[in-house]
Amino acid sequence: MATAASPGLFTPPYPRRTETPRGALSTILTLRRNPLEIWGRAHFEQPILIGRTVLGLRAAAHDPAAVRRVFLDNVANYRKDDLQLRILRPGLGNGLVTAEGDSWRLQRRSLAPLFSPRTVADFAPAMQRIAAATVERLRRRRDGAVADVGELTSRMALEALEQTLFSQGLGRDPSAFQRAVNAYFDSFGRLDPLDLLGAPDFLPRLGRLRGRPALKFLDEAVDAIVEGRKRLLDRGDEAPRDILTLLLAARDPETGRGLPDADIRANIVTFIFAGHETTANGLTWTLYLLSQARDWRARAEGEADRAFDPARPSTFEDCAVLRAVFEEALRLYPPAAALSRQAIADDEILGVRIPAGTVVSIAPYVLHRRPNLWINPDAFDPSRFLGPARERIDRFAYIPFGAGPRVCIGMPFSLQEGVVILANLLRSFRFELVEGQRAEPLQRITLRPRGGLKMHVRRRDSKFETRS
Ligand code: HEM
Repeated sequence: MATAASPGLFTPPYPRRTETPRGALSTILTLRRNPLEIWGRAHFEQPILIGRTVLGLRAAAHDPAAVRRVFLDNVANYRKDDLQLRILRPGLGNGLVTAEGDSWRLQRRSLAPLFSPRTVADFAPAMQRIAAATVERLRRRRDGAVADVGELTSRMALEALEQTLFSQGLGRDPSAFQRAVNAYFDSFGRLDPLDLLGAPDFLPRLGRLRGRPALKFLDEAVDAIVEGRKRLLDRGDEAPRDILTLLLAARDPETGRGLPDADIRANIVTFIFAGHETTANGLTWTLYLLSQARDWRARAEGEADRAFDPARPSTFEDCAVLRAVFEEALRLYPPAAALSRQAIADDEILGVRIPAGTVVSIAPYVLHRRPNLWINPDAFDPSRFLGPARERIDRFAYIPFGAGPRVCIGMPFSLQEGVVILANLLRSFRFELVEGQRAEPLQRITLRPRGGLKMHVRRRDSKFETRS
């Protein structure tokens, strides 16, 4: 782990960057151990690199113009690549994250209304209730008790989905869902050498056997949810306007047909997966970073206190500092650390020829730390996201949620949730790292601290009591 110093700013840990390109065996071992370590110094310094690797012809493009080309201007020429689909499809089926072409377009159109600014704003009270209930739970514990912040945020993120997208709940214990999702990420998210070598799917990946029970649990739980809602609709009872109802009501405008059952199930699992660990990891990193940067912690706590001044109705848009610290955490530790696409036909990016079939990697983790785009790129400095500085950030230099037509559909949901949860937690508690606890970023589909993050939860002498 490296921690280069920037005067007056906290520089959190990140993997050392190799000076020279890795050989085939080292690439395979690194991708299996922690794909974040694959990025060498050249990736941070060069706008585009292309070459034949153990994974075939690959380009690494980390320049805003290249990002724009792949995700927007020539988007029709790029599809999600086989390796990424091989990891995601066993769990996510043909849901919105993994679907392509017409199937993706239909799903995106059908689901977009659920994430409109108005609908997401309507979710704020549910998010507030969940955060306040967590605060109450933590208050019942001994002052300074140790919590695994990864588990804490993960549970809140799952409850937020339960109360909003699946308004009648998931019908199972949230911690069982949490365990199943973690087991899936740990097994399927760990690149198998057979995948890296492009071996056919019928060859079993032994490491994934561990993830099978998790998939079975999710399949059964989701089937039960869908059946329950179908029965309710068949009875003619009024159904809540949530993701389930929308999925069941979605119709192809051309054929009038509904989504196949498999796609409905795939999207439910997709939302649980895509909307749960990502936001939770973003929050976990934020609490870690604030514990190390006292000036920003003081500013964030001050804003959290003011956000709840009973004299003023609480409006979460007021929380510019909380949003900036969350966005800065997503810059340094983007939960989706690496994205990729495969060129369908030949293309040219930044003057470099991209033959058809090339996989283009675009890692938000690298782009967000390129020294030509960011001042003190490895340091924690939320002021980048405040006031006019925020406006100066190139749209294609900061992509924790992706970009273009396939930008994260849950972005407004997640940003709102992040602010609401931070405001509640920081108003009541100060999170301090347990002595000896390291925060080592590990990529297992999402980017999380290896082994979780243990922190003392100490009560703050806050002026206001918890509101729900
Ligand atoms: C901090 C939190 C989050 C981060 C960092 C994040 C990141 C991303 C990224 C980078 C993509 C684009 C992937 C690509 O282009 O290959 C994406 C897509 C997606 N995200 Fe998120 N996400 C977050 C939260 C959420 C939430 C809360 C939901 C749902 C409630 C969600 C649902 C989705 C879905 C369904 C897609 C696929 C969109 C499409 O292809 O049309 N995400 N997300």
